[in-house]
Amino acid sequence: MAVYVLEDKLFVLETENTSYSFCLDAQGFLSHLYFGKKIERKEDFFVPDKYSGTNYHPYRDAFMEEFSSFGMMRYKESALKVTFSDGTKDFRYRVSGYDLENNKLSLTLRDAYYPFEIMLCYEIFEENDIIKRFVRAVNRGEEDILLERLYSAELGIGERDMEIINFAGNWGAEFQMSADTLRAGKKIYESLRGTTGHSENPCFILHKGATEDRGDVYFGLLEYTGNFKVCAEAVSYGYTNMLIGISDTDFGVKLGSGECFETPAAYLGFTENGFSCMSHKLHDFCRRELMPETFADKPLRVLYNSWYATLFDVRCEEQKRLAEKAAGVGAELFVVDDGWFGKRNDDNSSLGDWYPDPEKFPGGLQELISYVNGLGMDFGIWIEPEMVNEKSRLYEEHPDWVYRFPNRDVLQCRNQYTLNLTKEEVVRYMIECLDRLLTDYHISYIKWDMNRPLGETGTCGENAACCEGDLAEQKEVWVKHIRNFYRVIKTVRERHPDVEFEACAGGGARVDLGAMRYFDEYWTSDNTDAFDRLEIQRGYSLLYPAKYMRAWVTDVPDALTGRSMPLSFRMHCAMCGALGIGNNLNRMDEAELDCLKKGVSDYKRIRHIVQFGKLYRLGELKKDELVGVQYVNGEESVLFVFLSRCRYGQREYRFRMKGLAENKLYKVEGRDGEVVKSGAFLMHYGLTLSMSGDYDSQMIEVREIS
Ligand code: DGJ
Repeated sequence: MAVYVLEDKLFVLETENTSYSFCLDAQGFLSHLYFGKKIERKEDFFVPDKYSGTNYHPYRDAFMEEFSSFGMMRYKESALKVTFSDGTKDFRYRVSGYDLENNKLSLTLRDAYYPFEIMLCYEIFEENDIIKRFVRAVNRGEEDILLERLYSAELGIGERDMEIINFAGNWGAEFQMSADTLRAGKKIYESLRGTTGHSENPCFILHKGATEDRGDVYFGLLEYTGNFKVCAEAVSYGYTNMLIGISDTDFGVKLGSGECFETPAAYLGFTENGFSCMSHKLHDFCRRELMPETFADKPLRVLYNSWYATLFDVRCEEQKRLAEKAAGVGAELFVVDDGWFGKRNDDNSSLGDWYPDPEKFPGGLQELISYVNGLGMDFGIWIEPEMVNEKSRLYEEHPDWVYRFPNRDVLQCRNQYTLNLTKEEVVRYMIECLDRLLTDYHISYIKWDMNRPLGETGTCGENAACCEGDLAEQKEVWVKHIRNFYRVIKTVRERHPDVEFEACAGGGARVDLGAMRYFDEYWTSDNTDAFDRLEIQRGYSLLYPAKYMRAWVTDVPDALTGRSMPLSFRMHCAMCGALGIGNNLNRMDEAELDCLKKGVSDYKRIRHIVQFGKLYRLGELKKDELVGVQYVNGEESVLFVFLSRCRYGQREYRFRMKGLAENKLYKVEGRDGEVVKSGAFLMHYGLTLSMSGDYDSQMIEVREIS
């Protein structure tokens, strides 16, 4: 058992390498005590004395709390804000009991006067050193209760001046690592886009001078793909308080009699061994616990996607020619992206009309699918189910199905509106639509896109004078939208369990654990420039697994950056995840096609190492011209090295490998030939690499031979 309760007041949660502890203090509050390296002797934890400051100080702010709430003279950011029907706005609880079952613990906090309960829930994942937390709020009375904030987890860390990492980015530049020192006040990372977005991620990484291999690292991720908030506060009493959960901006849930609201889960972890170790724990945890089972343990297929080759100009005959070439280079899945449906010749129309364009597919879509299958590949297709264009049959029939406020024009983004997923008929439409597509056609893969954030989340319908529901209910729209989004994808997957689903949102705006629960992979960014991509992939890899990251090799000059790089460099970069090909194969010469073919065949040989191995980041693009990514899966390893620009006078390029066994012998094979070296030599002296010119790259395979 990994959860211990001592004398009914000290709670100790243990994983293989960590301890997490809190207590019921003398005043009846839950005080957080510790999260960090494992302390074997549980009895050493103790209930602290009453805070001994002067009476000028807010009493609770001085303590790290397991679950704080607004009011009672707390002035730090707190986990809960609730308003009762008579206007009372604080939560004065006593712990009314706890429940312990194997690796799960829950505690019930009951308000001293109002029939309102909070349940704090914990689950331990021992091997991955991860603690899951979520919170349930229940109205046990007759009167309505208004929830205005409810974070999934609160975590106090008894140190100041911590460094926090998140990601500052944008479309085409996702996962740019941001780092700040928390000296005073609050640092907030938040999405109000109705989805995760490109700019921040629902996570935190906290440390003090940690490196890839060394140092204490605390981390937390939220399993949610909607509005989120991460609040890091340097509390003036000398500790750092972390909160992670659904954003409280425009958030509100009216709890009627007997009703309950449950937050999404947050996953918290700690390691004393730096960022690589954090990544290994998370990557493994994601595969074991979160990814849909169908593909979690299977290597993902090499796909070809015709988006960058043809954009909206999809025509059956041209797609067939592309498919022949894609099969020729070894692709296993052929995907038609945007442009196959309705009258979609640009991004102005047809979202919502999910039937093949008869002009583009005179013989029907099945003709192309059969052709692709005949070439030995599976077929996949793009769809953006939550959206509609004004120019579409769907909008003509149901103008009241989009979110809008009364007396306001609806703002468009990429010329499209978002469907109001809080309406039952819209949910039914979306399920039927996807179900029909997957039933009528032999489709084995869906790229599910979402190219605009949510905006005016009014549920009024066209021409209505006011929105449905009262003002409190209007604030529930954000969470209802996500709940129903989950419902749609869950139902469709249950009906079509063998179909692979990719989460995409104008690039990487849906990279989060909430999407991971229902999708088999993410599209990380629309930016496929291999040089930019190295940085994007590096940031991504801190938290999320390589298996889950679709990465394509595409043409040059790159459409976004105008940069040109050799095909081998682009190929190696895309081989660092789940390989995809996005080139216009009809325009490539034989030599280029041969190079692609060789890359695909190399990738198939090593993809189990990339997709299931431990990932090590070597070097940093911002500081080093030579960077690498190494994967280790048992006795096998593969190293990709990238030299962005050479410098005359650089004596040699050498990388120290990681994750090998010191006493074992390894055969090392790459462009420079074959050598046999010990793990100790490769990890301490390193591997000398012949690299030159700009955008040079290599793939090096390492296999144990003794
Ligand atoms: C945005 C995606 O990220 C792209 O890969 C592509 O599918 C386009 N949408 C299509 O409109």
